[in-house]
Amino acid sequence: MTSPVERSLVLVKPDAVRRGLLGEILARFERKGLVIEALELRTMDAALADQHYADHVEKPFYPPLKQFMTSGPLAALVLSGDNVVEVVRAMIGATDGRKAAAGTIRGDYSLSNRENLVHASDSSESAARELALWFPKL
Ligand code: TYD
Repeated sequence: MTSPVERSLVLVKPDAVRRGLLGEILARFERKGLVIEALELRTMDAALADQHYADHVEKPFYPPLKQFMTSGPLAALVLSGDNVVEVVRAMIGATDGRKAAAGTIRGDYSLSNRENLVHASDSSESAARELALWFPKL
């Protein structure tokens, strides 16, 4: 029996939308062979930010991160495909755009540890939590 296809919650962050990189980033996921199962342009509010980043709310970098993440529209996506959680994490690269490898999305387009263009679930557990938060009806 085959297991159901894996899903990941991906956010193309407000910096990417402002910079006109949304199409470029979506194209990379499509070319990889991942399936866009849902796609919504949304602006994160403070309550959703606190829930989404529950692990980070006490950290010193959280207030400016929250300010940034709620600063304008972002694209929320459900991506699916074989091993999608791990595959997308490899495609986006290390958190700090200055250190992310060339060829990754952050490595190619970000010079920041905060404005790093994309969020992606980092485990199947976080994917389940984040998908329920962003797309409760799916
Ligand atoms: P984290 O979960 O560590 O990274 P990732 O997005 O690669 O899973 O951090 C969440 C976000 O918090 C990160 O994308 C950008 C922001 N952030 C900062 O602004 N400053 C920091 O020092 C760190 C570690 C993260």
